[in-house]
This record gives sequence, structure tokens and C-alpha cells, in this order.
Amino acid sequence: MSFDPEKTIEQLKSLGRYRRLTLPCGLDLSSNDYLGMADHPALREAALSYFGNEESSVGSGGSRLLRGHAQAHQDLEDYAAQVFGCERTLFFPTGFQANYALLTTLPQRGDVVLYDNLVHASMRDGLVACRAKSFKFPHNDMNALEDLLKRYRGKAQNIWVCAESVYSMEGDQAPLLELYKCAERYDAMLIIDEAHATGVLGEDGRGLVYDAICKNKGYEHIVTLYTCGKAMGVAGAIICSNSGIIDYMVNTSRPFIFSTAPMPVQAVLVQKSLEIILSTDGAARREKLHKICRYTQQLLGGHGGHIVPIILGEDSVSVDVAEQLQNKGYDIRAIRPPAVPAGTARLRLSLSAKLKRENIREFVNAFEDIRKAL
Ligand SMILES: Cc1ncc(COP(=O)(O)O)c(C=O)c1O
Repeated sequence: MSFDPEKTIEQLKSLGRYRRLTLPCGLDLSSNDYLGMADHPALREAALSYFGNEESSVGSGGSRLLRGHAQAHQDLEDYAAQVFGCERTLFFPTGFQANYALLTTLPQRGDVVLYDNLVHASMRDGLVACRAKSFKFPHNDMNALEDLLKRYRGKAQNIWVCAESVYSMEGDQAPLLELYKCAERYDAMLIIDEAHATGVLGEDGRGLVYDAICKNKGYEHIVTLYTCGKAMGVAGAIICSNSGIIDYMVNTSRPFIFSTAPMPVQAVLVQKSLEIILSTDGAARREKLHKICRYTQQLLGGHGGHIVPIILGEDSVSVDVAEQLQNKGYDIRAIRPPAVPAGTARLRLSLSAKLKRENIREFVNAFEDIRKAL
């Protein structure tokens, strides 16, 4: 047996890339619970009410195509289709599984997938297992994308273009309309991951794609993915598209077919969360978050979003600074490769509606003191 985990662990330690599991501790500046929904009383009540019914089962007991398909899954998918204005939706237990399912199911042998250099690991891993050839374009570079589209139009059977509406580690946005026009011009299909826009941005928190594209253009040329474990405070992901794409996923997607369906209560909670996101409560939370974003931008600069990258460069420096901040009571984590490109290790300051201006002011002062002493 030549497998030597110790050797890899030692290498990771020497590179400053070793990780350990750490429980939450201190002021939350690192979770994706942007709207503070994860401990929303209405979600707790919905769970209690679900389990208060003696007939409610805990586990789904099977895959969706067998006995695991519960009324709660059906209700959520119907409701989400109304919310996002599409023909059908499909619910997955996690965003990772949903992205992996999309990329391993839709692109076929003979197709080409063009993806932004910064898309999430779940899309990349799907591409590794996918039968189509894939090529990356530099982050948000529409000229480079168009060059690739020109090169492969006519040669590839179908072309798929993958991007995120808000990038998870940079916090910046994709030029969605340009992406869509470009894809339309070359008859390509877009796959947009709305993980970090869901609940936070767009009309009533529907994300950015609905406003920019789907409200007017529908879902003929687009698939969108909404994760439910970030601003929605629950877990899972909803894929939206036209009924042809969703029916194809149901019939051929191996991560969908060969996996136990999510616990029905997960679907109940996601639906409840979506209802709150669309309500005045959701709007008030977004307003609070956006105020904190504007205030943080005044102090730290950047694009004013809810994900604020503080690039420190070296892995060991980012670990050291994060540890010093943790010792001062801030739960902020060092983000290192492979989550970000080498040489761009960072603190990822994640803002939430629960934060107050003084939290941010005090954090920035603490950070500046540490930076000066570096
Ligand atoms: C952009 C993006 N897509 C997908 C995922 C995966 O979602 P989940 O955490 O629900 O598996 C993440 C998780 O961090 C993400 O940042």
C-alpha cells in the first residue's frame, strides 16, 4: 500500500494549507447566512409543526423515482416554479450535488462547455466527470468567451456556457445580459449558479438572473440554480428551467436517480424560507444587509457586495491574520487554494443583516492594527 496520508498532511502543513474543523466561535463574519435566516423562528416552528404530525416521516426512504418522492418535494417544486417563472424545477439535497448533476447530465459527448475561470468546485468536478470537452475563459472576459464561441460554433454539437451571478470568493457579479446575448448569438445554452445572489439580490430576492433575463426571455436558453443553504438558511438547491430540461434530468441524471431523496422536512423548510424571502420580512432583512454593505464599502472599498475579499497573498499570512482576529472574537476564516488561485489567499468577510455598524467599525480597526504589525 503506497497511499501515505501523513505525507500529504505534512506537505499541506508546510504550505500553510492544512485545515482542521473548527466550531463557530465569536462574531459571525464567515457564514453564508447573509439574511440571518438560519435561526428564523418561523423556520423552527415549521419544523416543529411538521414533526408534530404523527404521520410525518423523518427520512424519505428512497430515491425520488421510487418511494422517496414526497408531497413536500412536489409542493416545493411547484411553488418554486411559480416564484421563478419557469415551467418546472427540481430540488436537490445540496448545491454541490445539483451542480454536479447538471454538468454530468446535460452536456453530451461532442458538446463543448465554456466556463468562467472562477466557477465553483461543484461545477468543475462535474466537468471532470462530464463527457463533453470543456474550456475555461478568464473571469468575466466576454471577448475571450466570444472568441471561444466563434471557434467552436459549427464544430461542437451543442455549446454550454457556465457562470455564477455572484462569485463566491470575489463577491463580484457576472455581466449577465452580455453573457445571455453572447450565448443567444451563438445558440449556446447558459447555466448560471445563483448560489450567492439567491435571497439577497434582485426583485424580492429572486436573484439576478430572473430580473435580467428570465422575466422577459423565459428559460429556453438558460438553466439556473438556487442554493438553499446560504441566504435561505436551510440546505439544498433548486434547479429551474424549461420542462424538457427538467424531464431529461429526472430521467437521466445519475446523481438525481441513484440517491436517496432529501428529507421531506428539508423541502418544507425551503418552501417556508422562500415565502419569507418574498415577504416584507425578507425585504427588511435585505435592506439591513445592503446598508451594512454600503457602510463596509466606505471603510474597506471594493464593490459594495455582501462578500468582501481581503486579499493577503500568502497562505501562511492569511492563516496568521485570521487566527489573530479569531483571538479577538471575530469568526473569520482564511481562504486558501484550492478554494482560490495560488498567491491570492485571503480573508473572506461575509456580511449579514445581523451585523451592526459598530461591529464592522471595530473589526476594521482590529484588522488595521494587525496589518500594521505584519
Ligand atoms: C457558487 C457555489 N455554488 C454551489 C455551492 C454548493 O452549494 P452547497 O453548499 O449547497 O452544496 C457553493 C457552496 O459554497 C457555492 O459557493
